[in-house]
Order: sequence, then C-alpha cells, then structure tokens
Amino acid sequence: MTQSTTAKNNDKVASLSIKRNGVFIGAEVRGVDLSRPLDDATAEAIRIAHARHGVLAFPDQNISSEDLRRFGRYFGELTVHPFSTSAKEAPELIVYDNKEGNPPAPTDIWHTDETFRDCPPMGTVLCSKIIPELGGDTNFASMEAVYEGLSDRMQRFLSGLVAIHDFKPFRMLFDQTADGIRKLRQFEDRFPPVEHPVVRIHPVTGKKSIFVNPQFTLAIKGMEEDESRTILDMIYRKTLRNEFQYRHHWEPNMVVFWDNRSVQHSAVHDYYPQRRLMERVTIAGDRPCDDVEPVDVADLRRYLMPPVTAFKTRAKRQHED
Ligand SMILES: [Fe+2]
Repeated sequence: MTQSTTAKNNDKVASLSIKRNGVFIGAEVRGVDLSRPLDDATAEAIRIAHARHGVLAFPDQNISSEDLRRFGRYFGELTVHPFSTSAKEAPELIVYDNKEGNPPAPTDIWHTDETFRDCPPMGTVLCSKIIPELGGDTNFASMEAVYEGLSDRMQRFLSGLVAIHDFKPFRMLFDQTADGIRKLRQFEDRFPPVEHPVVRIHPVTGKKSIFVNPQFTLAIKGMEEDESRTILDMIYRKTLRNEFQYRHHWEPNMVVFWDNRSVQHSAVHDYYPQRRLMERVTIAGDRPCDDVEPVDVADLRRYLMPPVTAFKTRAKRQHED
C-alpha cells in the first residue's frame, strides 16, 4: 500500500496558520476573521489548503449568515439544494435546526454531497451556532487515501469505470398521493440518473480519488448487478478504515469547509433530542473527470442469452400498450 503525505505538519501561508489534524485528512485554520472580507492572497491560500487537506476547520468564527454566504462565494457560485429546507430570504442558505420534534435528515450515511447532479458541488461550508452538550460530531473520510490504499491491480481495474448516481434517498420525501407522485415525476425529469467516473481526478491537486458513495450511487454501469454490488461494498468498507478518517468535534461558532470532490462525510446522529443548529452554503463544482477513456460497457457485460429488451420482435407487455 502506498500513501502520499506532505512532509510538514504545519504551514504558515499569508497570515494563516494551518495545522494538520490527521495524516491523510483535515486541518485547523487560524489567523483569519471570516466576519470580514478576505484579501485575494488569503482566499487563494484557503482554496489551496482546502484542496490539499480536504477538510478545513476555522474555530472561533462568530459570523452572520451574510458572512457565511460571502465566504462561500470566494470559491464559486452558491447553489440551491433541491430537496433541502432553506432560508426564505436566501434559498442558497440551508438552516439545520434539529431539536425535539425535528430530527436530523438521514445524513448519517457516508456520502458526497449531491452527486445526483451532473456537476456536484466542489465544497460545502457548515457553521455551528448551537451544538449539543454531547454528541453531534461529523466524520470525514479521505477518498484519495481510499484510492491510494488500493492495490495497483484494483486501482487499474476501477479506472475507466463509470457509476450511475441518483437522488434515491430523497424519494421518500414525496408522499404517495397523486400530487406527490406528480411532483416526484417533475424532479425525476429535472434530475435524471447521471454518470460519473468511479475514479476522478482532482482539478486542483491532480490526485485521484474514489467517487462513489452509498447514499447516491446506484450501480457501476455495464456490470451484472451482483458484481457491481460486490465492488461497491468493497469500496465502502475501505471508507470505514480509521486511518482514512477525521472525526470533527464541533464547538459553537466553528466554520468547517470540506472538499466535496475528494472527501466523504457522515453526520453522527447520537444527540437527538438535544438541539443542534447549523447553517450551510454549498459551492458549485465542475463535472467530475478521469484521465482514461470510459470502458466500453459491452466489454463488461456478456449475456449467455441477450436481454429481452434487445429484441424489437418481442411480445408487448401490459404497460407498453
Ligand atoms: Fe452531506
């Protein structure tokens, strides 16, 4: 197993102090006040540190919602989550106010945010306002470390494969009335299943990472269902390795900015019904890319007998009339 790590534990960039939190992922950033506009050098240093460390934690940032939105905009356009709650005055601002009667959404599953989009976000910023006395941590995993931890043969096998992603966990938010089903169909039209490379290249660092997650990935394209499930389950088990993770413990007024291109996360739902109030903005990203040609699906799947859908002459079924 090969793992690349940076030699230094701490960096001093512009006026920032950046202290690494883990061998593979995470850093704490001090020396910047996010309640004020950033100068160009500081914003660029944060952009690079974000790509390099995967998760940046900024302690002691008593900032307003407007400050949070301004901070996010240094790194790209803010996006609106189609299935989340959002502030009336600013749809790009998500407010998670979890407490008795309003439990957290199922964010305790390992995931990369919004991979059901053609261009998933490059990063997400969370700011803690009220934290529970006990619990409520967030776990992060470096998917670059997961990739680098694979054998050479498995790295080569996965490179060029394509996975299908879908907004599947949000389907339960639509009720089974005619109106609910009609609305679900509208969202299916807006967000059809999308394809992303299983191994993607980071646009800033050039590093490779695994880009499938148990929340939104349906299958690896062109494989038999049991093959796809076996490969995905194997990858998901690697995400659980302690060495590849950083568990973030929140204090009030902390800003955490993670790289959605190379990191997965999972919220720990152990605090309910204590209150946990967080604000979030999400930053638009690029279409994930790999440096190898996608494999030909015909090479992955061979039939002893062609599938019935391949025949124009087949008998029609009830639903096709
Ligand atoms: Fe998330």
